[in-house]
Amino acid sequence: MKQLRIPGPTPCPEAVLQAVAQPMINHRGPQFQALMERVTTRLKEFFNTKNDLYVLTGSGTGGMETAVVNHLSPGDKVLAITNGYFGERFAGIAEAFGAQVVRLEFPWGEAAQPQALKAALEKDREIKAVVVVHNETSTGLTNPLRGLAQVVRASDRLLIVDAVSSLGALELPMDEWGVDVLVTGSQKGWMVPPGLAMIAVSPRAWQYHTQARMPRYYWDLSKARRFLEKGQTPWTPAISIFYGLDSALEMMAREGQANIIARHRRVADLVRGRVKSLGLKLFPDEKFASNTVTCIRAPEGVEVKGMLKYLREEEGITLAGGQGMLEGKTFRIGHLGWVDEKDGEVVMKGVEKALARAGYVRAG
Ligand SMILES: Cc1ncc(COP(=O)(O)O)c(C=O)c1O
Repeated sequence: MKQLRIPGPTPCPEAVLQAVAQPMINHRGPQFQALMERVTTRLKEFFNTKNDLYVLTGSGTGGMETAVVNHLSPGDKVLAITNGYFGERFAGIAEAFGAQVVRLEFPWGEAAQPQALKAALEKDREIKAVVVVHNETSTGLTNPLRGLAQVVRASDRLLIVDAVSSLGALELPMDEWGVDVLVTGSQKGWMVPPGLAMIAVSPRAWQYHTQARMPRYYWDLSKARRFLEKGQTPWTPAISIFYGLDSALEMMAREGQANIIARHRRVADLVRGRVKSLGLKLFPDEKFASNTVTCIRAPEGVEVKGMLKYLREEEGITLAGGQGMLEGKTFRIGHLGWVDEKDGEVVMKGVEKALARAGYVRAG
């Protein structure tokens, strides 16, 4: 069996693929209304939230844009925590809509520090909101969101979080941790094809929304809220992906959130264990290594592109290369969504073969 092990899109279970293939329905009719209600209710359970939640047709980046433009105005000061490619993207979106972005930068592969955030927020009282990526897919690092959220709560700013490659697979109880705006995408931990972004917003975020003047139309959450009252979306939704999400959420509810999180931890532990026994080095600080994506430094003398080509063509395993400035320097294994230890074993056996073929010899 082929192994698609990039950090999204992730493989879809057969039941999800079959669900996606169902005939179209009227998106303004009772069947879609029931589907929408089911999906929204289940998603709230996985977000661990009582907040309002919307399913938008678009990719994760559309969800990030929604999170920014609905809560801020041009000229607003926003603190963007950056320690990877997606942190930079969040900062870039806020800048594109006229926010005054203050970056709190950490080296790629190092975790954002709550103490540094505290100091930055105390220094500049004009900062209205903080944007941060929970799981930095580019470096395989999970930021310590609980601690960061505590700091933001204590300083009473708005906390906007990209959980595109973590939610559904890693622990992130929205209400308990005090996140105001939380975004994820269907093609990651949710085992569904690309096409939907999911966003939940707190009452505090709605207060910001009433003042927010950034331009928006397609992504306007006021419109989404009005239509959700009728079990609809403002625009034609990606109905097929809704079917898939409905099916995946049923599977996820059967497994249970705690079991899903534990399974991701086990697979990640296995992959990291194999990485070490091969004498390879993780890119991120191991204390913060992600349980959904492992980012590995390419060993000296091994050409990443050639290795990935061999894995794809000869072993049927598709992995991801390095992202942004890590291109050619790292490679990444996605282990989120529909994945278990057996998959981890298969992938790491393939990596071992590919490395041997590339002439890699374990140091020491
Ligand atoms: C952390 C993170 N944020 C945002 C995105 C962007 O999502 P999309 O490619 O669906 O727009 C991704 C996807 O790779 C991601 O991993």
